Amino acid sequence: MRTESGTQGQSATLAGLEGPRSLRPDELKASHDLAVLCFGEGVGADQPVAGYAPAWRDSVEVFVHRGAPVAQIGVFHSRLNVCGSQTHIASIGGVGTHPDYRGMGLGTRLLDHCTRKLVAEGACVMLISGTRGLYRRAGCVPAQIFRHVVWTGPQDGARLSPFTVRPATEADARQCAMLYQMEPVHLVRCVEEFERRLRCRVPDGRLADNWIIEQASEPVAYMLTAVPWGKSREDGVHEMGLLGEYAGDRSVLLTAIDGLLANPELRELRLAVPWWDRGMLDWITPPNVDLGWSVLTAHTMRIVNWPGLMRDLRLYVAQRLTRRERRGLRFEQAGDRFAITRGRGRLEFDGMAITRLVLGVPQGAEDLVPVPADGLGEVVRALFPLPSFIPGLNAR
Ligand SMILES: CC(C)(COP(=O)(O)OP(=O)(O)OC[C@H]1O[C@@H](n2cnc3c(N)ncnc32)[C@H](O)[C@@H]1OP(=O)(O)O)[C@@H](O)C(=O)NCCC(=O)NCCS
Repeated sequence: MRTESGTQGQSATLAGLEGPRSLRPDELKASHDLAVLCFGEGVGADQPVAGYAPAWRDSVEVFVHRGAPVAQIGVFHSRLNVCGSQTHIASIGGVGTHPDYRGMGLGTRLLDHCTRKLVAEGACVMLISGTRGLYRRAGCVPAQIFRHVVWTGPQDGARLSPFTVRPATEADARQCAMLYQMEPVHLVRCVEEFERRLRCRVPDGRLADNWIIEQASEPVAYMLTAVPWGKSREDGVHEMGLLGEYAGDRSVLLTAIDGLLANPELRELRLAVPWWDRGMLDWITPPNVDLGWSVLTAHTMRIVNWPGLMRDLRLYVAQRLTRRERRGLRFEQAGDRFAITRGRGRLEFDGMAITRLVLGVPQGAEDLVPVPADGLGEVVRALFPLPSFIPGLNAR
C-alpha cells in the first residue's frame, strides 16, 4: 500500500514522530503557523490564538515532529436539526501537512484517526469541506441535492410591502440566530457563533458582507455573502459573489438579492438552493441562470454511524411513515456493509451508496443507488433523501 511503503520509506526522517494525538495548549501558536503555511495569511483572522476556546469536544489532532506539529486536522462537532429531530455531525477542517512532510501518508493516517475518534465521540455523519483523493479514499462522497443558480438581475413578480436592507452587525446576532433557528433544517448554533461572524467583515481572509432585512423595523431575513479569492478586480468590481447562507422570508430575500445586484460593483451572485426550498426555487426565472441540480459544492460526506443516525431521526421517521410501515424496520451496519430490513425484505449498500441514498444525489445519478419498486423500496423513498442543509457558518 502506498501509504505504508511511503511511511516506511521515510522512517529515517520521521524518527521520533509523535501522534496522532490532540494538540496541546502550548502548541497553539505552532499550529496556527502551520495553518498559515498551508493556507496563507488570513487563516483564523476572526479567531486570534490568544482567544482560542474550543467548543465542547472540538479538537485539533496532530502529528508532531521535532517539537512542532507537522500535520493537523480540526474536528468540530455540531447538532443538525432535521424537521425537529436532532443528530450529531462532525465537520473536518483545516487539513494541512507541512510541505516538507507531504506525501508520507501523514494526512491519510490522521484522517483515519480523526474518523475513529469522531465516531467514538458520537458523530453519525462526517462532513468535509474538500473533495480531494484523501477524502474519497476514506469513503467520503459528494452528496446532497441543490439547485445551483447564477443571479444576475431582477426576477419578475414579487410585490412586497416595503423593507430595508442594511449591513448586519454584532448587535443583530440574536435576531439572525432566531431567524436561522426557524429554518426547517438547521445546525444548532449558539448566538455567539453569529456574533463572531457579524463582528468580522473578513472571515477566513475573504471579503464578506452580512445583511439583515427588516419590515416595519422587524427583522424578517438575513443573508451572508462573500466574494471568493481572485474575483475582485483592481477597479473595485467583484466579478462574482457567493450567497453562503440565508434564512427567513424568501420573497423578501430574493428582492434584497436583486437590490445587491443593482450595485454596479457586483456582477453576479451565485447561490445553491436546497431541493426542498420551494420558496426560493419558484423564483428562479430569466434573466437568472439555472445551472441545474448538483451536489453540495466543494464538500464530501460519509455516514459513519447508520443505526445511530436513524435512532436520532426516529421522530422524523414517525412523521413520514405509518405505524404499519415502521413495524419491524431495522437499520443495520457491520463495517462498511449497511442494510435496511423489514420482515423478509432486505436492502444492502456499501458506505458510499448509503451516504448517497440518505443524503441524496441529484436527478440523473439515482442509478448509483437503485431502490426496488417493492414495499420496502417505497418506505425508503418516503424517508430519503433527507432535506439538504447548507453548512454556511459551520463550514470549516
Ligand atoms: C492535502 C494535504 C493535507 C495532504 O497531506 P499529506 O500528509 O501529504 O497526505 P498523504 O501523504 O496521506 O497523501 C498525499 C497524496 O499522496 C497520494 N496518496 C496517498 N495515499 C494514496 C493511496 N493509497 N493511493 C493513491 N494515492 C495516494 C495522493 O496523491 C494524496 O493526495 P490527494 O489527496 O490529492 O489524493 C497536504 O497536501 C496539504 O497540506 N496541502 C495544502 C493544504 C490543503 O490543500 N488542504 C486540504 C484542504 S481541502
